[in-house]
Amino acid sequence: MSEEVIVVEGNNTLAGEVRVSGAKNSALKLIAASLLGRGKTILHNVPLISDIDVMIEVLRRLGATVTRDGHSLVVDTASVDKWETPYELVSKMRASISVLGPLVGRFGHARVAMPGGCQIGARKIDMHMVGLEALGVEFDIDHGFLEARTPNGLHGAHVVLDFPSVGATENLLMASVVAEGTTIIENAAREPEIVDLANMLNEMGANIVGAGESLIEVVGVPSESLHPCEHTTVGDRIEAGTFLAGAALTGGPLRVVGVDPSYLRMAIMKLEAMVCEIESGPDSVTISRTLPLRSTEIQTLPHPGFPTDLQAQFMLLAALADGVSVITENVFENRFMFAAELIRMGADITIEDHHALVRGVQTLQGADVSSTDLRAGAALVLAGIVAEGQTRVHNIAHIDRGYEDYVGKLSSLGVNVSRVVLDESAL
Ligand code: EPZ
Repeated sequence: MSEEVIVVEGNNTLAGEVRVSGAKNSALKLIAASLLGRGKTILHNVPLISDIDVMIEVLRRLGATVTRDGHSLVVDTASVDKWETPYELVSKMRASISVLGPLVGRFGHARVAMPGGCQIGARKIDMHMVGLEALGVEFDIDHGFLEARTPNGLHGAHVVLDFPSVGATENLLMASVVAEGTTIIENAAREPEIVDLANMLNEMGANIVGAGESLIEVVGVPSESLHPCEHTTVGDRIEAGTFLAGAALTGGPLRVVGVDPSYLRMAIMKLEAMVCEIESGPDSVTISRTLPLRSTEIQTLPHPGFPTDLQAQFMLLAALADGVSVITENVFENRFMFAAELIRMGADITIEDHHALVRGVQTLQGADVSSTDLRAGAALVLAGIVAEGQTRVHNIAHIDRGYEDYVGKLSSLGVNVSRVVLDESAL
């Protein structure tokens, strides 16, 4: 049996300029939202990653025609006539649950396999269901499938989310745009990807005000009034933050292009606190560091708080900083597995419940390590750049889910990194 790994040679640098791809956590939902406009929606700046391939397959199973031309997709949903999403696709990518809202909006019916948990947490969907029930959806759970019906149609409601869930906010947006009357979503998620989705829905004829704030108002429009549109996905702030962390580690200088720096305000604040120099342009961030990394405190929180998707990358910075850092993970219940891999490279990290105490060390040693989720995997590759000796990162399918040509982009920045297929003898 063979396995493809990412091999990184240590004691290296990362410098130059890199353009990030479109945001995975927006593009996936924009594709789902195209179900609400009967016809050809064109999406640009769609990243070439495996999660997008799964979402394209989900749409095709529903009867859509999807063609890809580089980073652009044409999603023709005119002939969509099914509302069932199979288990094997949802189990591959739990974000398939994002078709629930648009299917309910378009057909008043949906049958979506219940998404399982994953390494980082239970990933429940109770807030999706409670919110949609307020809009008139009735759910049954049938042999692992979520059966959604709207016997009396969709109607507006005042929904207050227990937690500003990104996915729940998105499903509520995509259903409420065609509900009878006005919907208020209170304690809504404020991520930039929510704003991107709302902008696209408005381009399709919806009437959403307040996306990006905690209170969003949606005035429902007739379902048949929504039309296809042409939309460009925002740049991926988490990919950008990952490369910025790599340059913070090695000193850079690095210019990251293709992202609105305002999406990264908290991460930039933390990089400056760790004594990096940062300059921002309209769609770029430039970083360099000459002084030793300084320890810091990080609390992951819903946007505009520090993003949980950059927690592993910043734990790596803390592992090589002067002093002791404390990192608290408030969003997912099990997102510290990365620490165990970093400890195998020589990091000094103590986990207490959802706090990580990180004592900076001088160096890390290259090792065989395993990706536990896509962000941890990306961070392990970065660790290999500054470690002594060679690092081999396993389970790299996680990385390919969310990072387009990660190895190619890192190589263009001077990193000695490659994808290698190892046969059994080398494992
Ligand atoms: C999105 O996940 C992102 N994924 C995640 O990115 C990101 O970490 C997360 O938002 C937070 O920013 C996509 O957009 C595809 P949530 P989502 O609903 O929507 C709990 C990555 O690395 N919760 O805001 O699933 C949930 O278990 C991925 O790109 C409920 O309890 O996040 C979690 O603990 C990882 N009930 C917390 O809320 C619900 O009904 C935040 O979840 C919904 C969520």
